[in-house]
Amino acid sequence: MRTLEQILSLRTYVRGIRETRQGGKLIGFVPTMGALHEGHLSLIRKAKADCDVVIASIFVNPTQFGPKEDLAAYPRTFARDQQLCMEEGVDALFAPTVEEVYPSGFQTVVTVPEIAKTLEGEIRPGHFAGVATVVLKLLNIVLPDRLYLGQKDFQQALVVDRMMQDLNHPAELSLVPTVRAADGLALSSRNAYLSAGERRSATVLYGALQAARAVVEAGEMSAEVALEAMNQVITNEPLARPDYICIVNPATLNPVERVDEAASLAVLAVRIGTTRLIDNAILIPPGSATTRLRFMWP
Ligand code: PAJ
Repeated sequence: MRTLEQILSLRTYVRGIRETRQGGKLIGFVPTMGALHEGHLSLIRKAKADCDVVIASIFVNPTQFGPKEDLAAYPRTFARDQQLCMEEGVDALFAPTVEEVYPSGFQTVVTVPEIAKTLEGEIRPGHFAGVATVVLKLLNIVLPDRLYLGQKDFQQALVVDRMMQDLNHPAELSLVPTVRAADGLALSSRNAYLSAGERRSATVLYGALQAARAVVEAGEMSAEVALEAMNQVITNEPLARPDYICIVNPATLNPVERVDEAASLAVLAVRIGTTRLIDNAILIPPGSATTRLRFMWP
């Protein structure tokens, strides 16, 4: 595996693959901020299964962190991450410095105003502009055929999907299901911030999603009833402070009143102590054919 820090070296590497390709080699790309866990590795494995060449990136993107957020504290475990990428068969790891990505004079920003307005975007102003901008830059540097993102950050994937469509980026987006710990907690680099007690409390996010699922699977179609079940689970956990708990249309992120044939998305952000965790689940009523959103994995 090569580790490349410069845009120029990455471009030369990719050009080499394109020029020597016989019968068209598919290039898959997995962008990350490092502190890799099984969730990231599942993206890499999917990319390996689908593509001939897999490029991963590790870049803790400063522009997607708010001034009071955890940029300085964000876990950085580069040597271990590099080892994991090698073991998973990543062909090239792109690990640029902040100066390489944002040289002096940098000023262009990509915004996706409607989808970024709600949920995470409301609580973290500027976050999705940072994400959309860095993902477009990375796509322009790597020029992959496929981009792999995780369902864990559903709104992020929706923002990136919209940006790619609106700006006619030719790469295909593939969304990979959320990888969870045995007790249901979605794996996240930020789980490392949790104390042992907080880690136990953090299972309430999954508990709330399961409660919504149980309500919908019992035939209840009122989103209000499913929301009430989610709220109850979170309220019962003293360490949990919700930022939002919603049931939305997964294409628009607008709240829905009924969980009907068109799949809905239960989505929540909860603070456990000082750590902010997010999770989501698709809700499909019994008897509905699993609605295949354009955007979901096949
Ligand atoms: P990061 O949080 O490192 O996540 C990188 C990718 O891994 C994202 O697509 C995310 O959705 C996915 N991921 C994280 N946890 C997962 C889990 N438990 N199961 C499945 N996939 C999971 O998201 C970012 O970095 C950044 O915003 C980035 C896209 C790299 C832009 O800076």
